Amino acid sequence: MCGIVGIINSDNLKIKAINVLSKLEYRGYDSAGVSFLAKNNIKTITEVGKISQLSKSLTSTGYNAFDSVIGHTRWATHGIVSKNNAHPFSNQKISLVCNGIIENYSELKLKYLKNYKKNIESDTETIFLVLNELSKKIKDHNKLIQKLVSIIKGHYAFLIYFSDTQEIFSLKSGSPLSVGKNADGIYFSSDPSALTEYVNNIYHLQDGDIIKVSVNTISHLNGKKVIFENQAKVVNEFSKGDFKHFMIKEIYEQPHVIKKTQKYYDADYFLDFRNKLKDLTNNLDSFVFVGCGTAYHACLVAKYYFEQFTDIDVSCEYASELRYKNISTKKNSIYVFISQSGETMDTLMALKYVKSKGYTTIVVTNSLESTMVREANITLPTFAMKEIGVASTKAFTCQLLALANLCIEIGNIRKNISKKEYIQLKQDLKNIPTKITKILKNSSYIDKVVSLLSSSKACYFIARNIVFPIALEGSLKLKEISYMHSEGFAGGEMKHGPIALIDKNVLSICLNPKNKLYEKSSSNCEEILARGGKVVVFSSKKSSSKKNLLQIIMPKENYIDTPFIYTIPLQLISYYFALNEGTDIDQPRNLAKSVTVE
Ligand code: AGP
Repeated sequence: MCGIVGIINSDNLKIKAINVLSKLEYRGYDSAGVSFLAKNNIKTITEVGKISQLSKSLTSTGYNAFDSVIGHTRWATHGIVSKNNAHPFSNQKISLVCNGIIENYSELKLKYLKNYKKNIESDTETIFLVLNELSKKIKDHNKLIQKLVSIIKGHYAFLIYFSDTQEIFSLKSGSPLSVGKNADGIYFSSDPSALTEYVNNIYHLQDGDIIKVSVNTISHLNGKKVIFENQAKVVNEFSKGDFKHFMIKEIYEQPHVIKKTQKYYDADYFLDFRNKLKDLTNNLDSFVFVGCGTAYHACLVAKYYFEQFTDIDVSCEYASELRYKNISTKKNSIYVFISQSGETMDTLMALKYVKSKGYTTIVVTNSLESTMVREANITLPTFAMKEIGVASTKAFTCQLLALANLCIEIGNIRKNISKKEYIQLKQDLKNIPTKITKILKNSSYIDKVVSLLSSSKACYFIARNIVFPIALEGSLKLKEISYMHSEGFAGGEMKHGPIALIDKNVLSICLNPKNKLYEKSSSNCEEILARGGKVVVFSSKKSSSKKNLLQIIMPKENYIDTPFIYTIPLQLISYYFALNEGTDIDQPRNLAKSVTVE
């Protein structure tokens, strides 16, 4: 993963580098570093921990003699979290930062660094040392970089500075990298949205690109033209406002972003999209939904929607599995990729793989400038806007909305649902923001649930049918931000093994909407209570009170809005429990917002 920044021939380097790195911190926060760059002079500072740590170290230093800087925020892959493994890797001649993984670094180490005594842990340090070795023989920097590109294998984005010529090379293969230019300098970033306050015009590097910056000139090593595009300004998305964390701000933003997204689908978007869908869904065999983590849970919800409202076969795939599977080219299928960031490596690679097999690809994302948007045939956008908290909240519910709309459009086109049902379903979707606002206001149960969680050693989420994926999502939210052990189970599966986990120290959270499976899920609760377990049940139907059972009454649901209604309280209890535990909610340990490595 990791984030990289470069600011060339500019001023206020310290402030700008820290500003951009803070915006890239969602990509990893194990260590950070910067190299200040000038003619025959490189000064590098690294720190273990977050950007704030690096920022503190920089306060006492001047660095006025420098005109450029490259920097990095790391999510450790190869090599422990340490100052030694922090980027940039540098000496007085070369400084280098990398985002990605160099898969053949062990081979390169054996071939080029045989006589090296130092214990080299990381793939990037290996590349830095190999580059230094190669530079002893290859004096021309263009040729040196071309040689480097020819021997490395993997997914990466690099910035490499040579202090003798003051040239900066940027290389991309798989990992994102963009460059922008204005009167006061040239800016590189792993994420173009981190540059919006500095540049309006952006070029997104393509795989295989080698871009050189030399005395304010940006050129392609293979002679290709660098064509800049206009980038929309992102206003204040990096601010927490009055909220303590991004996660809680993003939870409360849900009524607004869902309303905005639905409005877009209700206006002109689906007119055009519907025509495309009509052509695409002629003779269609199946839809395949693909994602990772929370996005995968959205895929599972989509499967329930499609089974309820259409006659099309649907399957769901983890992107990390799909990309290594043999897929048949005989079927007429549409693959739908779901991703908040639009950059997740497994999802992106699965998309490219499926595309190479000739399938139509749709991406559902809120990151409209992302690589997946550029790769997919069709984009189904959501307007969740930027999500900064590592735990996905508003991006998820907007993905559900996109999938619900996609499903009923298909149901309508194929006449699986009547015009009347279609209009009603659209209305149900329009009503979701009001229901969510109500749930956000009535949160008096939270303290009780937090206290039950505090006295438990594990928490299991149990549900059936369309809320089963929400149980998985609730469990993922809880474990990723509070580190409590948690699983999600399909109610019917309990007696096939998981019920053995139940004792008085375990809390089970049961999602039980009032539908045809209500009684079945109620039996699950009874079976847990009978074994001494504690139960919290979220339901729109009140049942008789029992010892060790806490009931939380939910608004009345329809099939299509059920997953939204049951998601919100699970986001809230995870947040408030993690707050109580004192964890780093927006940047939980070992995680990063955007998983851009395998
Ligand atoms: C969600 O809370 C997680 N942080 C994670 O599972 C995430 O959903 C997953 O990594 C996929 O990310 P994407 O949506 O950006 O592709």
